[in-house]
Amino acid sequence: MDAAPGPTLGPMAVQMAPSILSADFARLADEAAAVTGAADWLHVDVMDNHFVPNLTLGLPVVESLLKHAGLPIDCHLMIEEPDRWAPAYAEAGARNVTIHAEAASSPVRTLRMIRSAGSRAGLALNPATPVEPYADLLPEIDMMLLMTVEPGFGGQPFLDLVLPKLRRARDLVTRHGGEVWLQVDGGVSEKTIERCAEAGADVFVAGSAVYHADDPAAAVQSLRAQAEQATARAPWPS
Ligand code: DX5
Ligand code: ZN
Repeated sequence: MDAAPGPTLGPMAVQMAPSILSADFARLADEAAAVTGAADWLHVDVMDNHFVPNLTLGLPVVESLLKHAGLPIDCHLMIEEPDRWAPAYAEAGARNVTIHAEAASSPVRTLRMIRSAGSRAGLALNPATPVEPYADLLPEIDMMLLMTVEPGFGGQPFLDLVLPKLRRARDLVTRHGGEVWLQVDGGVSEKTIERCAEAGADVFVAGSAVYHADDPAAAVQSLRAQAEQATARAPWPS
């Protein structure tokens, strides 16, 4: 069963998605509850030890989170063969399912399957993957995820080299005209979130910056305030 609907959001609203990768995996329901009310999404990193050199959790754990978490689930699939596995996460009730462009053989078909199962469809790009080849896919997606670290682990340093791509992605989305959210994931913290917002991100994943804080909800609120202030002075149209 899906969680309660999130707030109604206009375009360019800042959204916060704490990543449970940095939480205590033996207490996932409690860790989700710790950010419920402060966050918009719970970001869940599915890793298969093949697409990335790390193994986390899969569909059974996501199904349990869907029952017990009080906020919508944002599934980030860092797996090979997303064409084969992604639709099940959407059918289970994840509000958003993101696949990696580098792993998908049939991204258009898979993104359409995710949407037809009732989820939002996301497309993720690794730091070295250019955004321009995916411009024609914008009508097929609800969110583009730009990785700001190499995927696989929490707690890595933010890669500033992604910021020019983020600006170009914001331009592409603006020219496209539809509402496609731009998510950043990796190394997002009080030191980097303003740079991300100014460059064009509107959905912010943060793992260690939230779950390694003494008060995860307060950390979300403080990061959100920083992102909102930076968005207000961003050069792109809001
Ligand atoms: C990394 C994951 C991230 C991770 C981010 O591959 O996709 O979601 O949890 O962790 P931090 O915010 O600690 O870099
Ligand atoms: Zn992630």
